[in-house]
Amino acid sequence: MTTATPATSAPRRLRAGVIGLGWAGQQHVAAYAADPTVDLVALSAMEDHLLTRFGDEHGVELRYPDWQEMLEKADLDIVSVATPTFLHAPMAIAALEAGVHVLTEKPMAQSAEAARSMVEASRRTGRILEVSFNHRRRGDVAALAQVIESGVLGEIHYAKTGWVRRAGIPGLGTWFTQAEKSGGGALADIGVHMLDMTLHLLGEPAVRTASASTYADFGPRGRGGSGFGISDVADGVPFEVEDLATAFLRLEDGATVLLEASWAQMIPSDRCSVTLYGTEGGAELVFGTPEGDHLTVWTEVAGLPAEVKPAIGPDGRHAAAVADFIEVVRNGDPAEHTGEIALRRAEVLEACYRSAAAGAEVGIGA
Ligand SMILES: NC(=O)c1ccc[n+]([C@@H]2O[C@H](COP(=O)([O-])OP(=O)(O)OC[C@H]3O[C@@H](n4cnc5c(N)ncnc54)[C@H](O)[C@@H]3O)[C@@H](O)[C@H]2O)c1
Repeated sequence: MTTATPATSAPRRLRAGVIGLGWAGQQHVAAYAADPTVDLVALSAMEDHLLTRFGDEHGVELRYPDWQEMLEKADLDIVSVATPTFLHAPMAIAALEAGVHVLTEKPMAQSAEAARSMVEASRRTGRILEVSFNHRRRGDVAALAQVIESGVLGEIHYAKTGWVRRAGIPGLGTWFTQAEKSGGGALADIGVHMLDMTLHLLGEPAVRTASASTYADFGPRGRGGSGFGISDVADGVPFEVEDLATAFLRLEDGATVLLEASWAQMIPSDRCSVTLYGTEGGAELVFGTPEGDHLTVWTEVAGLPAEVKPAIGPDGRHAAAVADFIEVVRNGDPAEHTGEIALRRAEVLEACYRSAAAGAEVGIGA
C-alpha cells in the first residue's frame, strides 16, 4: 500500500519595503534581509548614501527618496515605517490604503488622535497594523512573563519602572526635541518602552488615571546630549520637550504603576528597570547598566525566604517584532491586529502630558 505524501507548499514570498534608514530602520532592514521567506525589494530614505549602502548590502534594487513613489510603484505586501514620529501616521495610513500591511516604529504617533486615525485606517482597509515594541521581546522579559503566569508572584499590586540615561538626549535640534514632530521627549521616546513592557507583563490592564510631571533641565542648556538619531540638526530650534518625566498611573484592577523616563540625569550610569511587588513574591528586572542585566525573583520556599534567578532564553528584540509581524500577516486575523494596544499606550502618554500641563491627576478613557 502506498501512502500519498501531502503536498506542502512553501509560504508565499512577501515583498517588503522599509521607509527610514536611521538606527531603527536599519534594524528592520536586517530582520527582513535575514528572513528567507521575505524579499526585501524597496527602501526609502532621504539620505542617498544610506539608500546606496543598504541597497547594495542587501541587493535591494528599488530605492526611493520619495516614499509615496515607493508605495505606488514597488508592489509591496508589507512595509516598515521607521521615520520621525510625526510621519508614522501619514505614511502608515497611505500604505494601509494602498493595501500594504504596516509595521511602524514606536511611539505610534505624535498624538493619541493621530494614533487613533491609524487604527481606523487599519480597520477600514482590513490591513494589519503593528507597532514595533522590541524591548518587550527581550529574553528576560519573556522569562519574567512566565514567572508571573505561573502565579509565583501572586497578585501584583505595584510596579515601578523606568528608563533613565546618564547623557542620552538625541540630537539637540533634531525632530526628537521638537514637540510637534516627536509628540514628547524622554517619556514618548524611551518611557513608552517601559510602559509597554510593564503593562504587557501585568496582562494589559486598562490605565484609568495618570498623574505626571515633566521637566526640561539639561536640554535647554545644551547639556546631556548624545549621538542618537541621524537627522539634520536645525539651527536655532529651541528644546521644546521634557528630558525628565515622572508619572503615577492607576490601573483598572486597583494596581498602580510608577514610571520615570529621562534622557539625562546625574546618576552613575544608564538604567532600565521593572520592579514588581506581588502578594506572594517580588521581582526585579534590570538592564542597560554597565554591571550587566539581571532578573531576580524573591519568594518563599517551604516557609523560607528564597531568591530565584530564572533561566533566560534568547533575546528577540527587533528581529522578533518583525518575525511576529510577518507571522501575523501570513496567518493572523486582521481584525485582531489594528494597533489597538499601541493606541492605548499613546492615550497614556497623552494623559501624562495633559496631567503635567494641568498639575493634576487626569482620567483616561470612559
Ligand atoms: N524601537 C527602538 O528601539 C527605536 C530606537 C530608535 C528609534 N526608534 C523610533 O524609530 C523612528 C525613527 O528613529 P531614528 O532614530 O531611526 O530616526 P533618525 O532621525 O535617525 O532617522 C530617520 C530616517 O527617516 C527618514 N525620513 C525622514 N523623512 C522621510 C521622508 N519624508 N521620506 C523618507 N524617509 C524619511 C530619514 O531620511 C532617516 O533615514 C522614531 O519613531 C523613533 O522613535 C525606535
